[in-house]
Amino acid sequence: MKHFTSIKQLGNLEEALKDAALVKSNPFGHQELGKNRTCLLVFFDNSLRTRLSTQKAALNLGMNVIVLDVNQGAWKLETERGVIMDGDKSEHLLEAIPVMGCYCDIIGVRSFARFESREDDYNEVILNQFINYSGRPVFSMEAATRHPLQTFADIITIEEHKTKPRPKVVMTWAPHPKALPQAVPNSFAEGMAMGNYDFVIANPEGYDLNPAFTKGIPVLHNQDEALEGADFVYAKNWASYEHYGQVLSRDRSWTVTKEKMALTNDAFFLHCLPVRRNMIVSDEVIESPRSLVIPEAANRVVSAQTVIQKILESL
Ligand code: CP
Repeated sequence: MKHFTSIKQLGNLEEALKDAALVKSNPFGHQELGKNRTCLLVFFDNSLRTRLSTQKAALNLGMNVIVLDVNQGAWKLETERGVIMDGDKSEHLLEAIPVMGCYCDIIGVRSFARFESREDDYNEVILNQFINYSGRPVFSMEAATRHPLQTFADIITIEEHKTKPRPKVVMTWAPHPKALPQAVPNSFAEGMAMGNYDFVIANPEGYDLNPAFTKGIPVLHNQDEALEGADFVYAKNWASYEHYGQVLSRDRSWTVTKEKMALTNDAFFLHCLPVRRNMIVSDEVIESPRSLVIPEAANRVVSAQTVIQKILESL
């Protein structure tokens, strides 16, 4: 694997899950792969899980790790070509990226949606500049439109807990005070399409995701109907795709509560975290024995390590 920007690049999901199980059972078994190699992790935005789990994954593989927070301690970066740089930005990404490439063997990038332009976000301008100008394999640690390391961890977690060959998985929109990207739900939809899942999306009117990610997937605007018989409930907020980046609703009747979970087949609860309690999910549900949010976060190490190992094997 050269670059990793979409869950689809894992190829056969069943094989990737077997690789992940091997990584999980023997996390220090391939330290020779990373010896004397450096993994640079570049963050344009905040992170807890991705920052720690990806560092841990690279360390497990014997790598050295450097972390750069672009907005804290580095020069402010211009991203648009052709701009007269007479403002507060001291350096252009087009120099900064190849320089970063000089100091490492592989690069992880968290770039996030900026909600300034749907076209720019969906063209993944920043991530693609890293791919085009760093001279290194690049893996996404969440970009504007996808979060594939999260999706892989989500699927590993579902596979570890499913009790039937084709579980019903419902991804439901839930309210949040701020505008959040579509990266997690887009990626999760992409990942669900790769496996044997009865997958349904529930969201209010105006919150339908980009049809490129939801082709062939039932989308219901009635959450109660969607939740009926669910084996897994994956909650997530996202801002509107159609009215790009806008918050159209904070309707707390979409919060995942004990009453909502009672409609399901005693479903497990998933969320990528961080989560706003009693907006997205009630205290009772996230603290219940059916909540998988902690094992899901733990599997972020397995997910990242499996991907980084595949990249190292191709160097
Ligand atoms: N789920 C996730 O990516 O968490 P962080 O934003 O804390 O990395």
